Amino acid sequence: MSIFKTIENQVLEAFHKAGYEVETIIFVKSARSDLGDYQINDCMALSKKYGKNPREIADEVVEILRESPNFTNLNVAGPGFINLSFTESFFLTLLKEMQKDLFSNVDLEPKKKVILDFGGANAAKALHVGHMRSANIGEALRRLAIFLGQEVISDVHLGDMGRQAGMVISELKREQPNLPWFDDAYQGEYPSVPLTNEDLGRLYPKASIAAKESEARLEEVRDITASIDKGDPVLTDLWKKIVAISSEGIKKTYDRLSSHFDLWEGEMDACQYKEQVLSIFNDYLYESEGALVIDVSRTDDKKELSPLIVVKSDGATIYATRDLGSLYSRMVRFTPDEVWYVTDERQSLYFEQVFRASYKTGLVPENVKLRHFGFGTINGKDGRPFKTRDGGVMQLEDLLDLVKVEVESRIREDILGEERENIAEALTIATIKYADLLPVRTTDYIFDVSKFSDLEGKTGPYILYSTIRMKSLLNKAKEAGISDFAALAFSENTSSERAVLLEIFQLANTLKKAYLDKSLNEICEYLFRLTSAYNKFYAENRILIEENASKQKTWLTLTEVVFQINQTLLDILAIDVPEKM
Ligand code: ARG
Repeated sequence: MSIFKTIENQVLEAFHKAGYEVETIIFVKSARSDLGDYQINDCMALSKKYGKNPREIADEVVEILRESPNFTNLNVAGPGFINLSFTESFFLTLLKEMQKDLFSNVDLEPKKKVILDFGGANAAKALHVGHMRSANIGEALRRLAIFLGQEVISDVHLGDMGRQAGMVISELKREQPNLPWFDDAYQGEYPSVPLTNEDLGRLYPKASIAAKESEARLEEVRDITASIDKGDPVLTDLWKKIVAISSEGIKKTYDRLSSHFDLWEGEMDACQYKEQVLSIFNDYLYESEGALVIDVSRTDDKKELSPLIVVKSDGATIYATRDLGSLYSRMVRFTPDEVWYVTDERQSLYFEQVFRASYKTGLVPENVKLRHFGFGTINGKDGRPFKTRDGGVMQLEDLLDLVKVEVESRIREDILGEERENIAEALTIATIKYADLLPVRTTDYIFDVSKFSDLEGKTGPYILYSTIRMKSLLNKAKEAGISDFAALAFSENTSSERAVLLEIFQLANTLKKAYLDKSLNEICEYLFRLTSAYNKFYAENRILIEENASKQKTWLTLTEVVFQINQTLLDILAIDVPEKM
C-alpha cells in the first residue's frame, strides 16, 4: 500500500477505534504552520452526529494517533481541529515512492463510459473565443477523466445545420452562378466544390450583411436552409461538401489547441434520428403556436421552465431536435454511463430542458447521468464580451495571433528561426490555456494579454519557464556525473524544502477535487503553489555545488518529483513543455 494510503487509513482507523464512523477524512493544509502542517476538521461534523463536544472527540483521536511513528506535533486547537505534522522519514518514503511511480498515491475513479460533447464549432463560420473555452476545458476534462481511469468518447457535435448553410450557399450562387448545383437541368454527378476554407471565411460575413439589408435575400437564405433540413438532395450534396472543406480548417485550429475528437459528428448526422426521437416522444408532444413541444416543468421548480420545442411550426428541426437525435444515437451505439456537455453557461437552462425531456420520455434511462458543465464568458477590460479593436466578434485565430506577438518578445534572443517559431507557438498555447483554465469554470474572466503572458505570477509562461529550469537543473546534474538521485536525508532548517513536500503531498487531493468539480482551476492553482514553493526552495539552495552528497541527492530527487508532477499536470491541461524558452 502507498504511504499516502497508509497514513489516510491510520487516521481513519483512529476515528473508528475511538468509536466514530467516518468514511473519508481530508488533510487540509494548515493556515497556521506553527500549529502543524495539516489540519483535520472532521470532528465538527461528528459532534453533531454523536451529540458530543468536538474537542472531546479530537482529544480521543489524537491519543490514538500518538501511537503512530508517522506523526509529530499532534495537538488539538480551537473548537476541535486536529493539527499534525509528518515526520521526515515519512516524507522521505513519500519521495521515494513518487520517484518510482508518481501516481501510486492517486485513487482511480470507478470505471465509467463517458461521452464527452465539446468543441461545438459551427461549420462555415469562424470559431470564436467561446469555442476556444469549450475546446480547452473539454480537452483537459477528457485527459483528466482518462487519467483517472475512465473510458471517454469525445464528439465535436459540429454545428452544421442552420442558417449559415443558407447564407453561404446564397452568396456562392452570386459569386459562381454557373456551378452545376444551381443549374436545374444538370444531370450528371456533382463534382467537388471549388472553394477553399479562406473563401468560406469571406462568404458567410458577406451574406450575413446582405441578409440584414434585404428582406428578399433573408427569405432566400431561409428557403435554402429549409430545403436542406427537408433533405433536398442537390443542396444537401453541395452543403455536405462545403461542411467537409470547413471541417478541414476547423480541425487545424483544434490541432493547434491539441483538442482530440474520437467522433467528428454533427447536427446533420443527428437529423437521421428525427423519426426515432419523434416516435419516442409521441405521447408527450403537443401543439403550441404550430410547433410541437414537450412540457418539462416540475411542480417544485422555483423558476418556471418553458416547454422545449422539438419540431418548429414549419416542420423543420431545431437545435434541440438535433441534440435529442444525437442523444438517441449515442445511447443506442455506445450505452454510456454518463454524457457530458461543455458549453457556455448561458446554455444551462436549455440543457436542463433537453435532459428533462430525455428522462421523461425514456429516450435516456434514469441511470445514465446527463451533465452540463458550463463556463463563463471571456470579457474585455470593459467587462463586456471580448471584441476586436473595431468592435467585431473576436475570432479564435485572431486571439491566438494577438497572444503570439506578445509572447514572442519573452523568448531568449539567441533562439532563432524555426525553433523560435515553434517555441512561440508552444508559449502562445500555454499562455492561453493556463489563463483560460485558471478561473473557476463558471466565472467570467477578463482577457488581459500582457498579464497572461507575464513571466511572473499565475501565468502559463511562469509555470513553463520554471518547469524548463527544473529540467535543465536535472540535466546539468547528470552531466556533472550525479545520476543516482535518491531520497536520503533532509537538511536542518528545512522550511522551504518542507513547503515543497507539503505541496507534493497534496497532489492526490488536487486531482480528486478537480475531477469532482470538473474544474481545472484546482490543477492550475496547485501548479502555481507547487512551482512557487519549489522556486523559493531553489533560490535558497545551491543544489549543484552542495557538498553534502546525501543532501544534494535528496534535493535532486525533490526536483525530479516536482518536475514530473508539473509535466504530467501540464499534459492533462494539454500544454506542451518546450526544451527551452
Ligand atoms: N454549436 C453550438 C454553438 O456554437 C455548440 C454545440 C454544443 N453542443 C451541443 N450538443 N449542443 O453554440
